[in-house]
Amino acid sequence: MPEAQSRLDLFIDRMVSQRTCLDYAIAQTTGQPGPVFELGLGNGRTYHHMVQHIQDRPVYVFERAVASHPDSTPPNDLVILGDVRETLPASVARFGASASLIHADLGGHNRQKNDAFARLVSPLIEPLLAQGGLMVSSDRMYFEQLTELPLPESAVEGRCFIYQR
Ligand SMILES: C[S@@+](CC[C@H](N)C(=O)[O-])C[C@H]1O[C@@H](n2cnc3c(N)ncnc32)[C@H](O)[C@@H]1O
Repeated sequence: MPEAQSRLDLFIDRMVSQRTCLDYAIAQTTGQPGPVFELGLGNGRTYHHMVQHIQDRPVYVFERAVASHPDSTPPNDLVILGDVRETLPASVARFGASASLIHADLGGHNRQKNDAFARLVSPLIEPLLAQGGLMVSSDRMYFEQLTELPLPESAVEGRCFIYQR
């Protein structure tokens, strides 16, 4: 019988998958004009990676309380501060369906809570994605009109998800 994965194994799979899926989505959406949205800044590791690799589009950050590493702190004018349950609906009026890439990493350690939150925010995220845009998430999302894409090679099934309009 195969040995169960340790928490370290799972963490490494998640991080490798997150970077692989982000790199894929950044490459696929290069040249699309719409902004990029980072939902959940946290320490700012994925934000740092994104701004290093995205030069052609602004990266807006949605976060309820900015507490990132100083090297990974977005400029004030690109922070949309508050609870995404309020800031995402408000952003539909501001941005419309224009985002070329949306990355969401809003979860914590509780998988059931993460799943419930993913169900809640999916309909709030969906109207912001442009035609041809990609959405990358650490949690399975529940979209009505977006298509789930196969993962790029070296990403691990179930550790990251990619959706396209
Ligand atoms: C797992 S961390 C993100 C880690 C980040 N991807 C990184 O690489 O450092 C999740 C972040 O989402 C934020 N967050 C969770 N729920 C939120 C909500 N309802 N509204 C706004 N931000 C939220 C938390 O404050 C936290 O900073």
